[in-house]
Amino acid sequence: MKAEQKIMPDAPSLIEAAAEQFVASARSAIAKRGVFHVALAGGSTPKGLYQKLATSPYSEQIDWSRVHLFFGDERCVLPTHDDSNFKMAREAMIDHINIPAENVHRMPTEEGVAPDVAIRYGRTMQTVLEGQPLDLVLLGLGPDGHIASLFPDTAALDETEKTTVSLYVEKFESWRVTMTYPTINAARQVIVFISGEAKAAIVKDITTDVVQGLPIQRLAPQGDYYWFMDKAAAGQ
Ligand code: 6PG
Repeated sequence: MKAEQKIMPDAPSLIEAAAEQFVASARSAIAKRGVFHVALAGGSTPKGLYQKLATSPYSEQIDWSRVHLFFGDERCVLPTHDDSNFKMAREAMIDHINIPAENVHRMPTEEGVAPDVAIRYGRTMQTVLEGQPLDLVLLGLGPDGHIASLFPDTAALDETEKTTVSLYVEKFESWRVTMTYPTINAARQVIVFISGEAKAAIVKDITTDVVQGLPIQRLAPQGDYYWFMDKAAAGQ
């Protein structure tokens, strides 16, 4: 499925454009349904976006009391660990916005083995979403074409029922919990946020169909689907 590409000149303008899109999506969802359910991306790329959303004027343009934050995936480490996606988002944004603690739904990685964490988080999502899809899923793109923790050649790619699953990622010798394709594809909007020259090779391989069947290529969002990129990532 082809995404609508938004290519910005550089990383700062990419962050601005994505922040504006996030704010517009939040305000529209809150106006229509009184609530905005969003799944945050992990990794390093979205950190600048989260920092931007926590600053004026963006932070004031969102009624954070009506926002529920989820995580697209998590590394099975403590929430205080440097590899924690929750820790990254907390330090970059959550600690600096006026969001009720009960609206921040992190994956409870310290509360058991990965398969149990995946089941527990799936239940939390179902309880909070009450059958609604996520309004927005933010994703990064790995150099191997993975999104969230949907890595190539893993069983997680073939999950068609569950909201979240766990997997052991050989190359990182670690467990992850991730949202599945059904959860991501059902979202009203999916944004893949890609920045920097380091991603130019994978972006080129995907956009020129040199490679097939990568996790991102198997994504089939039912709603709006965007790639927000800077020129460096787009290879321009
Ligand atoms: C994670 C992410 C993962 C990430 C990509 C890109 O937990 O690592 O969810 O899918 O988005 O690996 O990572 P970078 O943004 O650090 O390049």
